[in-house]
Amino acid sequence: MMMLEEVSKFYRGRRETLALSSVNLTVEDGQFVAVVGASGSGKSTLMNILGLLDRPSSGGYWIDGQDVARWSDARLAKLRNRTIGFVFQSFNLVPTLSARENVELPLVYRNMPPRERRVAAEHWLVRLGLEHRMEYRPSELSGGQQQRVALARALASNPKILLADEPTGNLDDTSTRDIMHIFEQLHGQGQTIVLITHDARFAAVADRIVALERGVLRPEAEAASHAN
Ligand SMILES: Nc1ncnc2c1ncn2[C@@H]1O[C@H](COP(=O)(O)OP(=O)(O)O)[C@@H](O)[C@H]1O
Ligand SMILES: [Mg+2]
Repeated sequence: MMMLEEVSKFYRGRRETLALSSVNLTVEDGQFVAVVGASGSGKSTLMNILGLLDRPSSGGYWIDGQDVARWSDARLAKLRNRTIGFVFQSFNLVPTLSARENVELPLVYRNMPPRERRVAAEHWLVRLGLEHRMEYRPSELSGGQQQRVALARALASNPKILLADEPTGNLDDTSTRDIMHIFEQLHGQGQTIVLITHDARFAAVADRIVALERGVLRPEAEAASHAN
């Protein structure tokens, strides 16, 4: 379970930005939560904090009861590697590596033996419908296929939590539906998911929708009624 309590985030630059303002959010194990909101509303900031890539300026964050806001960077990096899988709008694949090698890469960093690595990578690539594209490089794949490789890479290390920041933002309708379908399947198997999306159809398949408005988090129904 992930729990944010009164989390605020300031960015200091030429001007100070309040990107998140007293956010409270609990994500139970197995839950699928969609985060919606306009550009600049703080969605990626929230995702980076949930994913232990960034820290709150104030407030608390607990993962499975552990007070991670107080942990050292090194300890957070370890927990992140073991616990969290990321997918982004830009697929962030290594262009010189094949689909299979891209999926294996994080497993290399986890010191998984080559044979096991290969089995895990192939398992996920097959599962995501890429059995005929394992040895292709990213430039030889469509956007939808590249995103499925990125998803395979996120899932190969068996993360407790899948975080996705606009994973269909660069995809056409058909590929968007493919990815949606995969998320629904993962959710059906108990995967905990936090998804940022602009796509109302995609958000609608989640258990729960929350909306960010200028750094303030609201349940979607309440946010919608405030809009008028
Ligand atoms: N590294 C940063 N430094 C300064 N301001 C930032 C930084 N990252 C984001 N911001 C600001 O914080 C706000 C929220 O950004 P972000 O979380 O990226 O929003 P979203 O993902 O919803 O588009 C924006 O006003 C943005 O300009
Ligand atoms: Mg963003």
